[in-house]
Amino acid sequence: MKIAFFDTKPYDIASFEKYGGDNGIKFKFFETKLNEDTVDLAHGYDAVCVFVNDTVNAAVIDRLCELGIKAIALRCAGFNNVDMKYAFNRIHVLRVPAYSPYAVAEHAMAMLLTSIRRIHKAYIRTKDFNFSLSGMTGFDLHDKTVGVIGTGRIGRTFISICRGFGMKVLAYDKFPASDLADGENIRYAELDELFKYSDIISLHCPLSEDTYHIIDEESLEKCKRGVVLINTSRGALVDAEALLGGIKSRKVGAACLDVYEEESDFFFEDYSGHIMEDDTLARLISMPNVIVTSHQAFLTEEALSNIAETTVENLIQLFETGQCPNELCYRKGNAEDCKTGKCF
Ligand code: NAI
Repeated sequence: MKIAFFDTKPYDIASFEKYGGDNGIKFKFFETKLNEDTVDLAHGYDAVCVFVNDTVNAAVIDRLCELGIKAIALRCAGFNNVDMKYAFNRIHVLRVPAYSPYAVAEHAMAMLLTSIRRIHKAYIRTKDFNFSLSGMTGFDLHDKTVGVIGTGRIGRTFISICRGFGMKVLAYDKFPASDLADGENIRYAELDELFKYSDIISLHCPLSEDTYHIIDEESLEKCKRGVVLINTSRGALVDAEALLGGIKSRKVGAACLDVYEEESDFFFEDYSGHIMEDDTLARLISMPNVIVTSHQAFLTEEALSNIAETTVENLIQLFETGQCPNELCYRKGNAEDCKTGKCF
């Protein structure tokens, strides 16, 4: 089986070569992202493997189908960059639903602690032998209220880390879990209540029509003064202009952003020698109370290994049996066809 692998980074290659090699799958690693201009690179392959910032819109799907590509294997959990309605009945779309909730949840907590204890400032100061503590006062997490939006795998892992710090949890989910609230320290609330009482808000829901700009001017208005916002989920959950306004007005005490709405133009690449074209991102990064990492939360050895293993398993299952539990849609919308592989 031959797979065209888009948006390749050096850290992807070892794990995919290992699992692919063990299972007779040959990956061709392209550095470029998949989009309408690059889709023809997939000619002659059986499937494409893509990541969060590849473009999988209707035009790309049409061309993949014309090229005889049978599957799009996402090597991530989120699939907001794929036009799923269009893909349905046309091409198989596979994903890695979970690879390490710990990687993302631990990164969220790392950003929070860095921010509120000013570790990013301290690191630079002491490198310069500046041992002054002025302006470094933080606050305890113990007894603070954290609002967690989205209580799936990552949200729950983050909640358990927060409980380790003795924090109280207000949770919101469109589909609340029956076994999460404990009647004491963790309880579900409506969004307005979560905004009103949370000292810290962490986003762990997927990006959808419902959640687009879930943090905007109106919701920030409802928040506590000094609220700390963490977004390790998807950039467009937050209206970046509104966040900037909230930071300038001192409503937002700090922001920890691993994702950004327009990240596909910049993240994962080195722009250190360039003029930053995105004024909002530049202004956010310039703020002393904003920490930005470039979609790094997933990047642990464990997660990389799990991503490669599951992606390879997904492809093998689909191509050998016509079915895969991690498939997001069926090419012909018919499970029987998929079982027999007829849909190829
Ligand atoms: P999950 O599917 O286990 O959990 C998502 C939760 O969000 C579910 O409980 C679901 O009911 C809830 N939800 C769905 N619609 C909602 C809505 N309208 N309002 C509130 N909650 C809603 O997903 P998981 O694994 O916890 O991942 C969460 C998100 O984290 C992913 O969608 C992805 O965007 C992001 N992610 C970010 C990574 C990074 O490197 N920064 C890596 C992996 C995932």
